[in-house]
Amino acid sequence: MGAASSKILGGSKSKSRSTSQLAIEAAPPADAAPDTTTAAAPAAPAVAACFPPSLIDPDVQAALPDGYVIRPLEAADFDKGYLQLLAELTEVGSIERDAFNERFAYFQKHNDTYCPLVIEDTNVGKVVGAGTVVIEHKFLHELGKVGHIEDIVVDANQRGKKLGLRVIAALVFISKSLGSYKTILNCSEGNIGFYEKCGFTKKEVEMVMYHNKS
Ligand SMILES: CC(C)(COP(=O)(O)OP(=O)(O)OC[C@H]1O[C@@H](n2cnc3c(N)ncnc32)[C@H](O)[C@@H]1OP(=O)(O)O)[C@@H](O)C(=O)NCCC(=O)NCCS
Repeated sequence: MGAASSKILGGSKSKSRSTSQLAIEAAPPADAAPDTTTAAAPAAPAVAACFPPSLIDPDVQAALPDGYVIRPLEAADFDKGYLQLLAELTEVGSIERDAFNERFAYFQKHNDTYCPLVIEDTNVGKVVGAGTVVIEHKFLHELGKVGHIEDIVVDANQRGKKLGLRVIAALVFISKSLGSYKTILNCSEGNIGFYEKCGFTKKEVEMVMYHNKS
């Protein structure tokens, strides 16, 4: 399968739930001219990381097992099993490399809002943990911000090594670093214990209305 045409076929598990100056400085210019010197495949992003690596808590990195790295999502993670990992959480669908890169570039451009991170097991060159924090910018609380944790998953073969705990700790660090006054998330009943171990407490009720679903 050619690089430009390779695609990920997502899983079908039931849906579980779910800058500051610093980041803006590190972002590529929004209107940066694309690299047209290469062939049809989309150019590799000028900046590899989706958001500034300085937002990764060094204490979380230090707590990981040897060979494991926690870092911002990179476009190259398309080839390191990122979408297959997300498919362990819920349906991903069919995503071409070009579409992946386009969404990646959107996140990168809006890196005061979207911070997807991964844990890579560099011993095997695979992404084994992932999570995202989305920073909501509000009028309330004097232009306050709220961090929303989304899309937490650890590879089934790697669970029980505290990788999930590390992903959450790193996302909370980002949320706080970007000025959020609180960090929230939704989860299934079965994961309440996990999030309590991560320091969260249960509050209120989630409601949902799905669109365009049969
Ligand atoms: C939930 C998930 C991310 C946990 O990842 P993990 O790396 O296995 O969890 P950790 O090893 O970091 O667990 C940290 C602590 O939480 C506990 N824990 C983990 N999952 C738990 C659960 N579902 N219920 C209660 N406690 C749980 C662990 O026993 C551990 O406790 P300890 O510190 O006393 O040893 C992982 O099981 C997963 O990817 N599940 C499928 C996708 C999913 O449900 N994602 C969450 C969407 S909201």
